[in-house]
Amino acid sequence: MLQARITGTGSYLPDKVVTNHDIEKIVDTSDKWITERTGIKERRVVASNEAASDISYKAARRALKAAGVRARDLDLIVVGTFTPDSPFPSTGCVLQSMLGAKNAVGFDVNAVCSGFLYALSLADAYVRSARYKKILVVGTDILSKVIDWEDRNTCVLFGDGAGAVVIEPTTKKQRIIDVEIGSDGRLGDMLYIPGGGSRIPASKESIRDGLHFLKMNGNEVFKVAVKTMVRISLEILKKNDISPEEVSIMVPHQANIRILQAVAKRLKVPMENVVVNLDKYGNTSAATIPIALDEAVREGRIKEGDLILMAAFGGGLTWASALIRW
Ligand code: ACO
Repeated sequence: MLQARITGTGSYLPDKVVTNHDIEKIVDTSDKWITERTGIKERRVVASNEAASDISYKAARRALKAAGVRARDLDLIVVGTFTPDSPFPSTGCVLQSMLGAKNAVGFDVNAVCSGFLYALSLADAYVRSARYKKILVVGTDILSKVIDWEDRNTCVLFGDGAGAVVIEPTTKKQRIIDVEIGSDGRLGDMLYIPGGGSRIPASKESIRDGLHFLKMNGNEVFKVAVKTMVRISLEILKKNDISPEEVSIMVPHQANIRILQAVAKRLKVPMENVVVNLDKYGNTSAATIPIALDEAVREGRIKEGDLILMAAFGGGLTWASALIRW
C-alpha cells in the first residue's frame, strides 16, 4: 500500500533576537517571571519588511535540498499559517512563485498552532490516494506582527519562524504511520483575533481598540492544552497499537515548558526524550513542530527506525497528533 514519508526537513529563524531582558524594557515583566512561568528566554523577530512567504522560502529551500528534490518537480505546496502575507493571494501561491514551482498547486491551511500537522495530514492523504507525489509542507508564522507589544499577558510568549518538510511516497517501513486532526469551534474565543476580517473589518476604530491583536485566556488555554495533548497522544498510540514506552522521541508544539512537562509526565515519556526549543524561540505557532523536527534531525537526535510522536494544540480550538517511523 502506498504510504508517505518525510524525505527532507528545513527551518529558518530570523536573525533578530529579542531577550526577556529586552521585553523588560517594554512592559512590566521580568526575566525571572517569564522563565519560571513559560521556560522562554528569548525569541526571534522578523525585520519590518519580512513576511511569512520570505521566511517560508528559506525553510523550504533547505528542506528541498535535504530531500534532493527540485522545486519544479513539486506537485503540491501546503502552507499552515494564520499570518499570511496578506488575506490573498495565499502564502502557498506566493511561495510557489518564489520557488519557481511551476508544476505545483499551492494553498494555505489555517489551524493556528496545529497548522503544520493539519497540512501534514492533507499531504499524507494525497500521497496515500496517489493524487500527488512530491509535496512541500510548510508551517510558518509571524507572531510579532499580530501581538500587542504593550500586553504583558501575551507579548512574552511568542516568536517568528518557519519550518518545512518534503513528503514523498514510500513502500518502506520508514513512513508517516498516522496523522489525526480535531477541533472544537465552541471554544474559539479562548484564543483569537477579533478584528481584521469580515466580522470586524479594519477601521480606525478597530485599530484604536486593538482588535487586530491576538487575545488569549491563558489560564484556560493552559488547562485545555495539557488535557487535550495527553488525550490525543494516547488515542493515536492506542489506535495504532503502540504503547507510550515505544515512543523514541516526542516533538510537541512549543507553547510553555510547564505544558510540556505536564504532558510528558502523564504520558510517562521522560523529558530527555522530548524535543524542547521554546527557550530559544518561544511559541512560533504553526512553525514550532517543523523547526523542532529539523533541529532534532540535524543534531542527530532522531535516527532511522525511531518512533516519533507529535502533538499540537491551538486556536480554533484545534488539535492534532502524528506518529512517524523515521
Ligand atoms: N510578567 C509578569 N507578570 C505577568 C505577566 C508577565 N509577562 N503576564 C501575566 N502576569 C501576571 C498576571 O497579571 C497575574 O497577576 P495577578 O495575579 O496580579 O492578576 C499573574 O502574573 C499570574 O497570571 P496567570 O495568568 O495566572 O499566570 P500563569 O501561571 O497561568 O501563566 C501563562 C500565564 C504563561 C500565559 C500561562 O497561562 C500559559 O502559558 N498559558 C498557555 C498559553 C498558551 O500556550 N497559548 C498558546 C497556545 S495555542 C497557540 O500556540 C496559539
